[in-house]
Formats: sequence, structure tokens, C-alpha cells
Amino acid sequence: MIAERNKFGFIGGGQMGEALIKGVLAAGLYQAAELTVAEPSAPRREVLAERYGVRVHPDAGPLWEECGVLVLAVKPQIMGAVLEQARPVADERKHLLISIAAGVSTAFIEDVLAPQPVRVVRVMPNTPALVLAGASALSPGRHADEDDLKLAEGIFAAVGRTVTLPETAMDAVTGLSGSGPAYVFTFLESLIDAGVKVGLSRDVAGLLARQTIAGSMQLVEEGGQSPAELRAMVTSPGGTTIAGLHALERGAFRSLIMDAVEAATRRSRELGGN
Ligand SMILES: NC(=O)c1ccc[n+]([C@@H]2O[C@H](COP(=O)([O-])OP(=O)(O)OC[C@H]3O[C@@H](n4cnc5c(N)ncnc54)[C@H](OP(=O)(O)O)[C@@H]3O)[C@@H](O)[C@H]2O)c1
Repeated sequence: MIAERNKFGFIGGGQMGEALIKGVLAAGLYQAAELTVAEPSAPRREVLAERYGVRVHPDAGPLWEECGVLVLAVKPQIMGAVLEQARPVADERKHLLISIAAGVSTAFIEDVLAPQPVRVVRVMPNTPALVLAGASALSPGRHADEDDLKLAEGIFAAVGRTVTLPETAMDAVTGLSGSGPAYVFTFLESLIDAGVKVGLSRDVAGLLARQTIAGSMQLVEEGGQSPAELRAMVTSPGGTTIAGLHALERGAFRSLIMDAVEAATRRSRELGGN
């Protein structure tokens, strides 16, 4: 059942909540007057109201009354308390809950609100959602139907690309795309430092490194060739690139990236108590 229009709420107006608000407005999915945000911080409420023209409340109570779709965008540690408070008013016919809290399972949310069979979709977005270039994975809970999933997909498609996966894949998603921007930023910083090491100014190294990463991604997206084919194209026999690649191989670059994703996946599992 698609929840009623004109009633869309965000519980938590932090970084990720704001990214989604910006995305759904930019995509024209909702008008500012249709969105309500519950956010305890007064300065934050002012920023959101001023920047986006959305309605704001200091607590979530009115949102459970007014809204059919609720995005749960609070930190994982306080999710239990937020749901406990909602127990008397949560209604499976009225509410679709979309949780973006890392490590919080749909079963956890369903259990806190039981015996109501609440409709939950769990989503793992990432920070490029702030510039509408996010990567999000979605998993429906036990009671969510196709329309619920479609509605959630529409919201996250407005801030980037989406995939739907079984919930067992969420820790791996966290390790890859959730934590992934930090790996990319570290790679970018390393390239810039490397440019400085070989004699370029920091500004010049920054421009060249940023554009190299952005341009390479565009080539992958638009060129229709695999990363391996594109790499082979710029690796001439006995040339400069193979010398650089050899150094990466000596430092076990790929193995290190695999270790990083594996470590983050493991940590996600630990934090979620799985
Ligand atoms: N940022 C990411 O890359 C990312 C990626 C994937 C998933 N997530 C998930 O997204 C969620 C939000 O992350 P974030 O980075 O946006 O964190 P955040 O910036 O700290 O936002 C959380 C917001 O919720 C507010 N809040 C606290 N208690 C509340 C309550 N009872 N009712 C309503 N609002 C309340 C907080 O206000 P105060 O600051 O005043 O407490 C804060 O503004 C987290 O669960 C995180 O796991 C984040």
C-alpha cells in the first residue's frame, strides 16, 4: 500500500537527513511544504527551515500523527528510544518506515514495535548523496510490500543510484559503498601528496589528481569498457605506467583494498551485533 501523499517526515535532520531532503526536492518528488522534519537541535531546525522551506518540530510526536512515510535518520544508538516513544502511535496501515541507521536490522525495528506488523524498508546510503550522487542499497523488512519498496527506491534514486538486496548483504554494502567514500578520499589525498613529492605545487597536484579520478570514472561510465581494458589501454610495453603499476603490485595494493572492505564489513557486523 503506498502511503498517503503530502505527508512525508524525517526523524533526524542531520547530514544524511538533509541530503535526502535536498534530493527529493531537487527531483520534484515532493514540495517543501509537504515535508516535515523532527530535529532536537534548534540551530539545525533553523538551518533546515531556512535552506529548504520545510516544516520543523523539536520532537517526532507530531510526525507520527501527520506522516505516512517516515525516514528514520537518527544515529543507530538512539533508534531504540525513538521507536519506544512511537510504540503507542505506530500503525502498520498508516506508516511506512524507511530506516537508514547503519547496523540496525529491520527485525530490530519490527520487534520493538511488535505486535504491530510495521512496514519497514532498510537502506544503506552513502555521503555522495549530499550531491545527489549517492549509492544506496535497499532491503525490505518482513511486512513491506512491492509498493513500499518502490516508494523507497524512488526516494533514494533521487539522490543517486540504488540496488535492492537481501538484508544479509547489508554489512558488505556498508564495507564497500558505505565506507567507500573514505577510501576514495584517502586515495585522492595520497595522489596529491605524491604529486607534491615529485615536485608539483599542491594546487596543481590537487587539480590534476581530482580531474584524473573524475575523468577516469567518466570513462568507465561512458566508454563501455571494463576497468581492466581501460588500464591496459594506458599501459604501453616498457612504459611509465607499467613501472607505476609494478610499484602498486609490490605494495599489494589490491590485497590492501580487499582487506579494507573486509575489515569494514566485519566491523559493521560487530556493531550490529550479528
Ligand atoms: N553519514 C553517512 O555517511 C551515513 C551513511 C549511511 C547511513 N547513515 C546513517 O544515517 C543516520 C544519520 O546519520 P547522520 O550522519 O545524518 O548523523 P547526524 O548528522 O548526527 O544526524 C542525526 C540527527 O538526528 C538528530 N536527533 C537526535 N535525537 C533525535 C530524536 N529523538 N528525534 C529526532 N531527531 C533526533 C540529531 O540531533 P542532535 O545532533 O541534536 O542529537 C542529529 O541532527 C545514522 O543512523 C547513520 O548510521 C549515515
